[in-house]
Amino acid sequence: MHDAAALREVLPRAVPRRAISNVGHHTLSVRNLSFAIDGHKILKNISFDLPGDELTVLMGPNGAGKSVLLRLLHGLIAPSNGTILWNGEPIDRSIRKIQAMVFQKPVLLRRSVLSNLRFVMGLRGLAKSRSELQPILKRLHLEALADRPARLLSGGEQQRLALARALALKPKILFLDEPCANLDPASVQLIEDTIKQEKVQGTKIILVTHDILQARRLAEQLVFLHRGEVAEITPADIFFDAPTSKEARAYLDGRILI
Ligand SMILES: Nc1ncnc2c1ncn2[C@@H]1O[C@H](COP(=O)(O)OP(=O)(O)O)[C@@H](O)[C@H]1O
Ligand SMILES: [Mg+2]
Repeated sequence: MHDAAALREVLPRAVPRRAISNVGHHTLSVRNLSFAIDGHKILKNISFDLPGDELTVLMGPNGAGKSVLLRLLHGLIAPSNGTILWNGEPIDRSIRKIQAMVFQKPVLLRRSVLSNLRFVMGLRGLAKSRSELQPILKRLHLEALADRPARLLSGGEQQRLALARALALKPKILFLDEPCANLDPASVQLIEDTIKQEKVQGTKIILVTHDILQARRLAEQLVFLHRGEVAEITPADIFFDAPTSKEARAYLDGRILI
């Protein structure tokens, strides 16, 4: 992908201000959110509140609309209808600056590991020297790879770089779209530990995963999406033992609902 195209992927657009609702502090909310493309309804009138102090895991079968929902929340695509709110305020350019996202397929620039970090930070006015970036490289075990071309890293290394780049922006809201898919156990552990630290530091995390054990380890709130609709939103400790929707029960049992 060309650098400019890659950049569009990592830099959300601001959306126009719309109605203000009365949601509490540090809550990511959507109201009547819909997304359609070519007349095909991908997300259908979704509303929910995701508390800032709970790690939200978003689950659902392939094609349910999880990635589209994250892209909408991150402002990469505009909804057909509805509103996205942070602390009751429509998300605008200032709030977009406190968000970051790790994509299902890492979007990396044709540059070194280090300049991938610096480039995105520079765009947010957070220019950093090499030594200032050492801690974040170290945190994701990337120090030895700092000068390697990012596109030549292994899948797991690319995922770690994508997470490092997101964290370098010091986000207050972090979207993670299957960040551990296809990773070895040590990389999964490193990423999960990093996610937990980030959560302890007060970052609102929304994680998409198909890994039920990972979801059990990390989730506090579970949102289950099915065919573009929210089938249920449940505290995680209840969800895995007693999901309320037949869609989630089938998913957890490994069945497909016809
Ligand atoms: N840009 C697009 N154009 C047309 N259809 C799309 C587009 N993006 C996603 N879709 C469709 O929307 C549905 C949800 O996709 P996605 O959010 O990627 O699912 P998942 O839950 O697996 O992440 C799928 O049926 C997918 O084919
Ligand atoms: Mg997806």
